[in-house]
Amino acid sequence: MTKSPLQLARYAYQPKQPKLFELPIHSIGVLSGQPTEASSDQEAIKKLFPNTYGLPAVSFVELDKERTYEAITVGVILSGGQAPGGHNVISGLFDALKKAHSASKLIGFLNGPDGILKDQTLELTQSIIDEFRNTGGFDIIGSGRTKLETTDDFEQVATVCQKHGINAIVIIGGDDSNTNAAVLAEYFIKTKRAITVVGCPKTIDGDLKNEHIEISFGFDTATKTYSELIGNIMRDAMSAKKYWHFIKLMGRSASHIALECALATHPNAALISEEIEQNNTSLDEIVDSLADVVAKRADKGMNYGIVLIPEGLVEFIPEVKALIGELNTLLARTADDYGKLKEWEQQKEFIASRLDEKNKHVFTTLPVDIQKQLLMDRDPHGNVQVSRIETEKMLIHMVETRLEQKRKQGTYAGAFAAINHFFGYEGRCAFPSNFDADYCYNLGYNAFLLVANNCSGYISSVTGLTKKASMWQAGGIPITMMMNMEMRHGEPKSVIRKALVELEGKPFQYFASQRTTWALESNYLYPGAIQYYGPTEVCDAITKTLELEQQ
Ligand code: FBP
Repeated sequence: MTKSPLQLARYAYQPKQPKLFELPIHSIGVLSGQPTEASSDQEAIKKLFPNTYGLPAVSFVELDKERTYEAITVGVILSGGQAPGGHNVISGLFDALKKAHSASKLIGFLNGPDGILKDQTLELTQSIIDEFRNTGGFDIIGSGRTKLETTDDFEQVATVCQKHGINAIVIIGGDDSNTNAAVLAEYFIKTKRAITVVGCPKTIDGDLKNEHIEISFGFDTATKTYSELIGNIMRDAMSAKKYWHFIKLMGRSASHIALECALATHPNAALISEEIEQNNTSLDEIVDSLADVVAKRADKGMNYGIVLIPEGLVEFIPEVKALIGELNTLLARTADDYGKLKEWEQQKEFIASRLDEKNKHVFTTLPVDIQKQLLMDRDPHGNVQVSRIETEKMLIHMVETRLEQKRKQGTYAGAFAAINHFFGYEGRCAFPSNFDADYCYNLGYNAFLLVANNCSGYISSVTGLTKKASMWQAGGIPITMMMNMEMRHGEPKSVIRKALVELEGKPFQYFASQRTTWALESNYLYPGAIQYYGPTEVCDAITKTLELEQQ
């Protein structure tokens, strides 16, 4: 297959490592810290995880005396949405495994958790790994969103592992996949299966983080890719001076991506879902505030601008959230009858007539396209597929209507021509930035050390990320430490707490202190494309979010 010059050059890139990982792997040992507690609901979680709850956090240290390793077989799964750096997690895992014992094997399960349930595997050899080093994508083994959660699933996993002689599984995934990794680890201990399960924190959404997981991998590259595109659009807007660009950005729930892109580019408006929810801001109020910015800029002769919209917004606007809640229950309860209806008018009538009065009003006043998108199939976790809801188009339509009202009232005399964009898939498989290439390689290397030290139910943790890579710290924390109880499908369930944007946190506070100025001036920042070679301050720059959080 033909390869681009950058792809060939990236094969030769050597990820930077913490000093400790430059030692022979036989000189690295594990140090246990203090017992841990779940972030909340301790008693309930302890009951569900009697074997893995409260385990100590661990760190890796230099040993006085070298240790030996047995040859082992490790299985690896990529789970959920793609995120730049997945191939490097696998490369780091492979390199550490082979350094520890050259007869050890790495088996990839194909297309996510499905690969393990259907026993579809690929042995990852040196030549396969070398084809994927420092490249984007998950195509080395593919990914998928199937869940491993029932006892039958776990038994099937055990059978398949036994068949291949697998001693450990590394699950590279987001909050739901790592939650399932913890449940699987607990199950294997309970049923006396000697299979270690270790997780790795992946998701471009940036919502799997805490003091031990400073950032999930992929966030850095994805936000830099989107910020480059936003900066380019800003320059186009500044040049032509005739368009408003409404840009929706991925991030299923949390607005970390939108916030990071705002910090990196200084748009005229950026909606942050968490703030909208906290302030109980209605859809009308959101539209009013955007129309206000458009009108104020028009007064200054600027009929152009940039608005950033987080993908998950609709689920945070109180009245739409209530509507989605009722729709979820209704669609689940009436799936058979609803599924028989083929015509849109019938489907709409079926739903509208069953909604309560308030939700019916919200539903029927939304544009038809949005009504249809709200009724689309849910994902396997029961979530609305927000990436398929065209919030950016809805807002353009509503702002336009509001501006026409203002025009009639004599408070707006500008021109409003808007273009919509959605950036998501553009960034999920980009060549990982140097940061993600380094971080992911070390997450994988570290995952092997967790496996080798029998740390089942742990997630790979590499910290100190604002420092040089040589100073990063490696270790692991029990996944139960990140859990709390939440209602899922009407039942209380132990899950990893999603990290939403903290309104008291420094990234949001900084954004809030600047946004009025950014709204009325055209103080755009042009980050440009990710650079892989060149000055360190350009090539190894971290995200503004991480920089502000760790300040
Ligand atoms: P993960 O949480 O699995 O990492 O996926 C995140 C994400 O990229 C979201 O930003 C987006 O809403 C979703 O995946 C899209 O899913 P799909 O790839 O199935 O269309």
